[in-house]
Amino acid sequence: MTEPVLTVEEVSKTYPTDPPTHALRAANLAVRAGELVAVVGPSGSGKSTLLSIMGTLEDPTSGTVRLRGYPVARLGDAQRAALRARHIGFVFQQFHLIPTLTAEKNVATGLLYTGAGHAERLRHARDALEAVGLAHRTRYRPGQLSGGEKQRVAIARALVKQPSIVFADEPTGALDTATGENIIRLLSEIARSGTAVIVITHDHAIADPMPRRVRIRDGRVTTDTGAPTA
Ligand SMILES: Nc1ncnc2c1ncn2[C@@H]1O[C@H](COP(=O)(O)OP(=O)(O)O)[C@@H](O)[C@H]1O
Ligand SMILES: [Mg+2]
Repeated sequence: MTEPVLTVEEVSKTYPTDPPTHALRAANLAVRAGELVAVVGPSGSGKSTLLSIMGTLEDPTSGTVRLRGYPVARLGDAQRAALRARHIGFVFQQFHLIPTLTAEKNVATGLLYTGAGHAERLRHARDALEAVGLAHRTRYRPGQLSGGEKQRVAIARALVKQPSIVFADEPTGALDTATGENIIRLLSEIARSGTAVIVITHDHAIADPMPRRVRIRDGRVTTDTGAPTA
């Protein structure tokens, strides 16, 4: 059995509100290459907090996050940004594309801070768009694309760096059911090719068919089913 790409060990997060908000309480999780994991829970249960901590965007109040075995807390800001640039892709509900840029230029932004030159970034961007079925849309701007196409562009942007792990926060939340199902199918193909994919959702129709389902409630992981066994 391979080592986990990501581990979350006894991670808690308390926001200094009055009274304090315990967004995460001693959460544990280990994710391996090629896994497709749904993190499911109601609104306010701590899903987005967990995602920003796993994605190294925020620090836990206590506990440890490791990427490929290395404790993230030991990295300085610059090292952490470099780690994110190379190893972590993000996909959001609202796509977060730059409206003035073509699809290929949006995807190429996924390679900023990796050291790749302009022509190389564009070449990889076109390859990534082809991989998500959008070879015929490279010169379109977001306003000329459907919702599902926009999300494919956002997925291509996450994938273009060939990350170890992709986090998708409610990736189907802005799409109709059929389009959302296609996006989930694409994410599961990406996992099959070896990238760990973590999908955050409050929607059981999205989570239930996934091979592994982690339920979170009041900041606690309450069940974790379908994890690969050693
Ligand atoms: N920056 C913050 N400051 C204070 N409270 C926060 C902050 N971010 C999230 N919370 C609170 O933490 C809890 C978990 O939020 P969140 O992780 O966004 O849940 P979910 O994504 O499952 O809806 C909620 O009670 C939310 O109000
Ligand atoms: Mg959320």
